[in-house]
Amino acid sequence: MNRRQFLTAAALTGLASACGSTPATDPAAFRTQLRVPPLLEPSRGEDGTLAFALTMQRGRSALLPGEPVETWGFNGPYLGPTIRASRGDKVRMTVTNRLAETSTVHWHGMRLPAGMDGGPHQPIEPGATWSPHWTVDQPATTSWYHPHPHGATARHVYRGLAGMFIVDDGPAELPSRYGVDDIPLILQDKVLDPAPDPLKGTFGILGDHMLVNGTYRGLLNVRTERVRFRVLNGSNARRYHLTFADGRSFHVVGGDAGPLAAPVEVDRVSLTPGERVEVVVSFTGGEQVLLRTVSGSDDIDEGDFDLVKIVAAPRLAASPPLPGRLAGAPAPVVVPPQATVRRFRLNGHDAINGQEMDMSRIDEVVPAGAVEIWEVENTVYAHNFHIHEVAFQVLDVDGAKPEKWAAGHKDTVYVPPKSTVRLAVQFGKFTDPGTPYMYHCHLLRHEDSGMMGQFVIVEPGTENQVPRTIPLHHHT
Ligand code: C2O
Ligand code: CU
Repeated sequence: MNRRQFLTAAALTGLASACGSTPATDPAAFRTQLRVPPLLEPSRGEDGTLAFALTMQRGRSALLPGEPVETWGFNGPYLGPTIRASRGDKVRMTVTNRLAETSTVHWHGMRLPAGMDGGPHQPIEPGATWSPHWTVDQPATTSWYHPHPHGATARHVYRGLAGMFIVDDGPAELPSRYGVDDIPLILQDKVLDPAPDPLKGTFGILGDHMLVNGTYRGLLNVRTERVRFRVLNGSNARRYHLTFADGRSFHVVGGDAGPLAAPVEVDRVSLTPGERVEVVVSFTGGEQVLLRTVSGSDDIDEGDFDLVKIVAAPRLAASPPLPGRLAGAPAPVVVPPQATVRRFRLNGHDAINGQEMDMSRIDEVVPAGAVEIWEVENTVYAHNFHIHEVAFQVLDVDGAKPEKWAAGHKDTVYVPPKSTVRLAVQFGKFTDPGTPYMYHCHLLRHEDSGMMGQFVIVEPGTENQVPRTIPLHHHT
């Protein structure tokens, strides 16, 4: 078959689009300037504490073509500002709830005491203010913050409550000028229905309209040879397989919980809800390219969608060379010979080890500073697994090592259907036998329906003295 015959045959069988070689959208349609969330300016207290103020509020946004819809945001109508702090900083968050219902704000990826974590046990009533504080002490990361009220997380996040939380550690060797060559990309998918039911269907909301930082069909102008993108999957259920339309390669420099030891060259990365990846992409003057997600083999990654168009200035400013090794990469998690192994079986879409989430039940008690093996087994549907407070490394997925770019420190991981993921989990040092951290599927419909459990971190040696039920105060 010659090329012409092949193309005709391909058109007839629909092969051309199945190859993903045809752009899903005309690049000219990408013309709205990509929104970059503003940096949140802290005020500095007398003891040097950085105080950040966040207000959860309602607003209206025209996210998609058509009428504006009701949206929620932090300090604005949709999404929230980016918080940036350095390792060693003392921080205090002042979170005020101006919504009509109780919510919480969880610092996803932060290593902090359980009472500051912002999970379902730290509710903020309408009109109330919650002020957690801690000392930032962890490797450089791209983390984020979002509500975590039990049973309502999917709705609150889908409405728009999410923001980035960047931790710096040591001198910048990668592009780090926020909004110039260090740019957040918050990926979300939406449906046209202004108020969809996030608990409907097996996975909840899977949209076919893609937003990046709340911008539909955005255009981003870059002016430097290299740009670092901090990509967050802030979607309720969708799994992304990110590539550039021209197939170019780029470098992964960091994952959820810290830099990789060295940059890893790839032409595609995959992200499930809650996961982050930091990549450095090179550009040449005057070019333009689309970032897109391509279909995979699961129910949660169907569809090819272009996400954002990147346009490089004719003349690009020089960027520092990509380092061969990345400073500040955390040491590998070393599993001791007698490590505790805990097993978690994800059942259907609403239970772990046969039980639905119960806020008064402590499922696991972990000694401070432990390194354990957590085995997460999946039965039917696609899931992922997030553990609060910790950093982990994936040991294997059904016996196979993770891809190099995904082998660094993480806090959220994809768990394919009918497979087992083994994690080497490093727990933190803050003890509180009465206040649990969460572990759960980060497909928010599943989390809300009960695929979540609770663990406490306690003084080593006191594991057996810890009460396994906790009194609930005024939670709903
Ligand atoms: Cu991103 Cu338990 O959450
Ligand atoms: Cu799930």
